[in-house]
Amino acid sequence: MPETPDTHVLVIHGPNLDMLGKREPDTYGTKTLDQINGEIKAEAERLNMAITPFQSNYEGAIVEQIHQALDGKYSGIIINPAAYTHTSVAIQDALAMVTVPVVEVHLSNIYKRESFRHHSMVSGVATGQITGFGSSGYLLALRALEQIV
Ligand code: DQA
Repeated sequence: MPETPDTHVLVIHGPNLDMLGKREPDTYGTKTLDQINGEIKAEAERLNMAITPFQSNYEGAIVEQIHQALDGKYSGIIINPAAYTHTSVAIQDALAMVTVPVVEVHLSNIYKRESFRHHSMVSGVATGQITGFGSSGYLLALRALEQIV
């Protein structure tokens, strides 16, 4: 019998990521968010971890979800803040409060794209960043958390 997972990871997807599959497939791939969440869940189970996926197009909803990690419910956060990566002081401030490890993930390599995407408001408060590996980045993020939590 597998053990009950003691590592529970909050996986946050920011704005427009609910449109994956239809959204600029040359940049973001053809998988839907449901497919990606399914792959993250399967990898988490292999690693004896549990995940809670969350997606919102609203900055405040993402901030409030990050607050859930303050009560000890989660042992790590994986976040793709999408466009809010480049703009959100509110998400940066929320992540700065969190004491568990935070992995920032981007499907595309933000440093190969327009210059406004080169700056992340989140990377200074994240444990680390994975960018440019498509949806595999989320699986790499789980493996990174497995090593450090
Ligand atoms: C993204 C990159 C961001 O610049 C963009 O606004 C997104 C997705 C990525 O996963 O590559 O929405 O975070």
